[in-house]
Amino acid sequence: MKGLILSGGKGTRLYPLTYTRAKQLIPVANKPVLFRVIEAIRDAGITDIGIVVGDTADEIREAVGTGQQWGVQVTYIPQEAPLGLAHAVKISQDFLGDEPFVMFLGDNVIQGGITQLVREFEEGDYNAQIVLTPVKEPQHYGVAELDDEGNIIRLVEKPRNPRSNLALVGIYMFDHHIFEAVNSITPSWRGELEITDAIQWLVEHGYRVRPYIHRGWWIDTGKPIDMLEANNRVLLEMDHEIRGYVDRDSQVDDNVTVEEGAEIINSVIRGPSIIGKNTRVVNAYVGPFTSIYHDCHIEDCEIEHSIVLENTRIEDIPYRIEDSLIGRNVVIHRSPIKPKAYKMTLGDNSKVGLL
Ligand code: DAU
Repeated sequence: MKGLILSGGKGTRLYPLTYTRAKQLIPVANKPVLFRVIEAIRDAGITDIGIVVGDTADEIREAVGTGQQWGVQVTYIPQEAPLGLAHAVKISQDFLGDEPFVMFLGDNVIQGGITQLVREFEEGDYNAQIVLTPVKEPQHYGVAELDDEGNIIRLVEKPRNPRSNLALVGIYMFDHHIFEAVNSITPSWRGELEITDAIQWLVEHGYRVRPYIHRGWWIDTGKPIDMLEANNRVLLEMDHEIRGYVDRDSQVDDNVTVEEGAEIINSVIRGPSIIGKNTRVVNAYVGPFTSIYHDCHIEDCEIEHSIVLENTRIEDIPYRIEDSLIGRNVVIHRSPIKPKAYKMTLGDNSKVGLL
């Protein structure tokens, strides 16, 4: 089997972070979501992986390279515009050939990996396998309607009035019949070639599509709140380890990771949380569910339930920072310069909640 990761698209719901960075490269528990996807595919025994890339192609190529660091071989497939998930399949036909493949959306995080799913698809004689999971707001996803025996009746992309609460998870398995489907459908109301319509086409034309109900957690990291949720889940489940320096005056919980070169000085770190490489935490409190990426400086402040990206400096802040997603190279500090006022340089579409 081959792997196909979709890493194009615009990520508008994560502005301003995604003005300057591919959304699939935003880290969850200090590892980009895209890297987690590559590892899940590799762990299922698949090493030939195509990555569909769009405007952020250069950044993705630079981060992933040839795939050697994971023991896989990566082929980049440029997509001229985000014309839909089925369009991405269409342009990948040369790479995929006649082999069955797993398609994984580059912004999805799933509990437990996909090894079992891939094995069941390989052992069965289905033309496609989709993953479904119950969600609270199905209108934001592709939605499946099943009959009493669990067979698919209908699949609809982001329906206004969903007929079930079963959302399509961004992990799909196909054999070569999917190319007939993607070449037969037409763009949806939002102008995209929908993979949901292509799968519906397979069902209508008598191909065997297996729905697999996933019972663990799954997160589509489309919005800031989803990033924080994914961060919570992964921090809770990962194995933690202290590889950096913790001084005697600090208290660090067992479920905290301190990466190489990080320094914790006179601080309290409550887990689950992670402090990235070469980050310094001085006279500070880092609360549960916090991921601080590499080369940051956190001093005389308190932060909890947040994600902080690389090279950021947070210093001398009187109130605790919570529920925040803070980008790269950000500086948040107390300014001694008069007048006493909030002074900000914020990117477009930034959001700040003040006391
Ligand atoms: O996350 C699950 C949902 O993913 C499914 O329930 C929906 O049925 C499916 O259509 C998809 O919906 P989204 O609206 O969340 O898809 P999004 O536009 O966010 O794209 C998903 C990923 O695929 C993202 O990493 C960007 C990439 N992509 C997207 C498009 C439209 C591409 O590489 N090329 C594209 O043309």
